[in-house]
Amino acid sequence: MTAPVSAPKKLFIKTYGCQMNVYDSERMAEAMGANGYVTTDRAEDADMILLNTCHIREKAAEKVYSELGRLRPLKDANPELKIGIAGCVAQAEGAEILRRAPVVDLVVGPQTYHRLPEMEAAARAGARPVDTDFPEEDKFERLPKGPRASRGPTAFLTVQEGCDKFCAFCVVPYTRGAEVSRPVERLLREARDLVERGVRELTLLGQNVNGYHGLGPDGAVWSLARLVQELAGIEGLWRIRYTTSHPNDMSDDLIAAHGEIDKLMPYLHLPVQSGSDKVLKAMNRKHRAEDYLRLIERLRAVRPDLALSGDFIVGFPGETEADFEETLGLVRAVGYHSAFTFKYSARPGTPAAERPVLPDSVLDDRLHRLQALIAGQQRAAQEAMVGREVGVLIEKPGRMAGQMVGKSDHLHAVHVADCEAKPGDLIRVRITGSAANSLAGRAL
Ligand code: 5AD
Ligand code: SF4
Repeated sequence: MTAPVSAPKKLFIKTYGCQMNVYDSERMAEAMGANGYVTTDRAEDADMILLNTCHIREKAAEKVYSELGRLRPLKDANPELKIGIAGCVAQAEGAEILRRAPVVDLVVGPQTYHRLPEMEAAARAGARPVDTDFPEEDKFERLPKGPRASRGPTAFLTVQEGCDKFCAFCVVPYTRGAEVSRPVERLLREARDLVERGVRELTLLGQNVNGYHGLGPDGAVWSLARLVQELAGIEGLWRIRYTTSHPNDMSDDLIAAHGEIDKLMPYLHLPVQSGSDKVLKAMNRKHRAEDYLRLIERLRAVRPDLALSGDFIVGFPGETEADFEETLGLVRAVGYHSAFTFKYSARPGTPAAERPVLPDSVLDDRLHRLQALIAGQQRAAQEAMVGREVGVLIEKPGRMAGQMVGKSDHLHAVHVADCEAKPGDLIRVRITGSAANSLAGRAL
């Protein structure tokens, strides 16, 4: 006689914010496999809903509470449904969430996902567990390995978490905690496993990824450059990227790596936030605009075609029109392939939150001017690719018949017409045109 097979329970995860949350959501889904869960794309079908939250910008907690309001009818219809809050809002709000939102069954901070299966079981037994510890153990190491499902051609790999920089506007040092680097051997193991499952491009993640200083197999502390070098030796892995970096941690060996390691792609996300030394100081960035520009020069000396991306905050407390114009000047001097722009928003608990804010109309005006400048640069960078031959790692079919979509070395999305390549193929493509946020090309 065979035991009755129970249908798997369904897990719906909604992910907010950064790529690290995307990675964490994948790991949480794997962990919940131990409790018999498979993922679903439909919240209505779920036996458990997890909101993997982000706290980086304004009204993050309020957005979570209003999402919970929208989920309420699902819980009314299915009292067995469990709802969990994960991520940085969970870390920041903790048990307060249980008090304000009776529909929530558990609250788990970003460092304790490996405890999720036990917490879910406790929630099923009627408890409302909260875990926002910063434990010593490596949460990824303790996560049970799911079935070795095949993977798409690109994947994230978290190598470092947390931040010790304490920029005056930022919640990350409080929500993600101090910098911790995962040991080299575990990362190599995970990377090899991903490559065996079909991954060809790895993006190494960390809040301050270039500050990576993990324990190497030789007992020495390894830098990010050394880790990249070692990963580059993995056969079947063709491309490596890393994000996000702080200018002060761009060490000599990492700069050199951009000239020496072919698999390290010519694209770097290197936020500077402002072009004004006064504002940079008030932000506690611990470098000047000039230092950043010299750094870019050194990077371009070893890798002339390096595509740069950045983050900018406009309207930081005390930012004058002249300060803002220095930011525009820095953007003109660098020439970005793309950049993310944010209006300053006070985050409770950060030093800058105590300072007087500028009128919203000023923030809007500066944001629009900066975005217009960056949009022009992005357009120019794309148009400069037209006529060139580039490598494209194919990811998926496009919307048009026969079309495939992938990314170039410089991280441009490329739509390849009449393309016979499959996801995971790395092909040569002639760029034939530039659209709003992508390039068009044909396979060679
Ligand atoms: N206000 C506006 N933007 C912020 N960022 C971080 N904190 C804030 C804030 N309080 C932006 C920074 C950072 C990016 C991830 O988010 O530019 O690099
Ligand atoms: Fe936040 Fe980045 Fe500054 Fe760290 S370096 S405090 S993550 S903005």
